[in-house]
Amino acid sequence: MIEEIKKLKDEIAANLKNINSKDVLEDFRLEYLVKKGKVQLLMERMKEVPKEDKPIIGKELNILRKFVESEFNELKEKFESEALSSPDLDLTLPGRRGFKGSYHPVNATIDTMIDIFASMGFTVAEGPEIEDDFHNFDALNFPPDHPARDLQDTFFMDKDGQYVLRTHTSPVQIRLMQDKEPPIRSIMPGRVYRNEALDATHLAEFHQVEGLYIDKKVTLAQLKATMITFAEKMYGKNLEHRFRASFFPFTEPSAELDIRRPGGKWMEVAGCGMVHPNVLKAGGIAPEIYSGYAFGIGIERVTMLRTKLDDIRRLHENDKRVLVQL
Ligand code: PHE
Repeated sequence: MIEEIKKLKDEIAANLKNINSKDVLEDFRLEYLVKKGKVQLLMERMKEVPKEDKPIIGKELNILRKFVESEFNELKEKFESEALSSPDLDLTLPGRRGFKGSYHPVNATIDTMIDIFASMGFTVAEGPEIEDDFHNFDALNFPPDHPARDLQDTFFMDKDGQYVLRTHTSPVQIRLMQDKEPPIRSIMPGRVYRNEALDATHLAEFHQVEGLYIDKKVTLAQLKATMITFAEKMYGKNLEHRFRASFFPFTEPSAELDIRRPGGKWMEVAGCGMVHPNVLKAGGIAPEIYSGYAFGIGIERVTMLRTKLDDIRRLHENDKRVLVQL
């Protein structure tokens, strides 16, 4: 055994002379210093050593182990300090900052919109994303076979079509009317779903901010003023916008608000109108006493205009360059 210890020590001593880099040092470590390494294997053979020889062999083995370890540590430190003084290493270079994540531009836009409407006296309300047919369609004055339902084809949750992923945030209007006495002045942000062919301005899952104001003598002029104030606070005063007559079953009259994109094309960003009397009735509010206006703004489209993104699908791609924009 003494012989073998000496042999291994000579072998190691010879090997140490050839260690001229970190990589070779690593090979050395793997050969001698790990659990299955040559030194440990020899130590395990202590079992075979007769009792009377154990103290002396044990001592020799310990000396060997300490020798290998201290030589190894010395070389390791040597290579590390050499690396630090190498001309390739410039410690004055600025560090690379990791990307810690950011607020999604859609959420940032929702927050800005909440601030803008809060400054005009609107509170925030929310409703469920899985809606029943009554709130999503019926109460909003969509008769069962009305073609307007086709424009809002969606994902049905059951065979009878009683539950749907809401196609717009307008059902929250009904929930608010059922819950509260006028005056009601709220916005309702949230996610909505449609069976859409995806393109540069359409997603199947997107966000809207609904708005509802119900009181005595609410007028169309107030609706326009509110929409224009919103648009100016969002985009600045020199934005080009237009109201275009439109149709929604739940408002009469109805309009759409378009904003001109940087390239010159108009993009529809909101639907709006005076709340239809049938909708007030469905919400338990007397149309003879109260009137109101409502609007629904597409948040992704507002976000596109703020970021100058030209394709709405970019917002779902998790691309850092998009995510850091707002
Ligand atoms: N719910 C409509 C849509 O999704 C938008 C809208 C809301 C229109 C409120 C008028 C009033 O297209």
